[in-house]
Amino acid sequence: MKTFLAGLTAATIALAGAATAQDTPFASQIKARQGIMEYRALQLGVLGGMAKGEVEYNAEAAQKAADNLMATVTLDASMLWPKGSDNSANPATAALPKIWEEGSDIGEKAKALGEAATAMKAAAGTGLDGLKSAMGPVGGACGGCHKAFRLSTN
Ligand code: HEC
Repeated sequence: MKTFLAGLTAATIALAGAATAQDTPFASQIKARQGIMEYRALQLGVLGGMAKGEVEYNAEAAQKAADNLMATVTLDASMLWPKGSDNSANPATAALPKIWEEGSDIGEKAKALGEAATAMKAAAGTGLDGLKSAMGPVGGACGGCHKAFRLSTN
């Protein structure tokens, strides 16, 4: 009985949590874009592990990760960044208001990742050296945009 009650309480808390998340403005868009970012990080983890020699190079796995990274660049994510979905009054997101300001060069930062991911897609399956040389620009493109447009977490 005690276990049952404890389970019930946990379920009630989970439901309350879900309701709060839904009340957050732009909750779905924010979760979706953060999910895409997490997916990018996952692919970068595969490629980075091989580049650093922590994981043995595998052409097929490297190509798959590079293809997946590329897919995140080519999908149309414009609907995930509505005006007003910044972090000025919304703790659910780390997206700085600067993204939407006049003269924002976030498009350029996105383009830089597009170019780096294209180079990675061409190189990842050809050998470890190719993967390694394509790695810097990809990491640089992620970091370049985060530095400018994401709330610093450190
Ligand atoms: C054009 C800009 C841009 C580029 C390029 C970019 N990001 Fe992001 N990233 C953001 C922004 C803005 C956020 C904050 C999103 C939010 O909290 O709503 C973010 C958040 C994240 C997060 C945190 C997600 C979460 O759960 O809150 C991760 C992880 C991440 N990015 C990984 C990456 C990786 C890896 C790359 C490169 C392969 C990358 N990003 C490229 C702009 C970018």
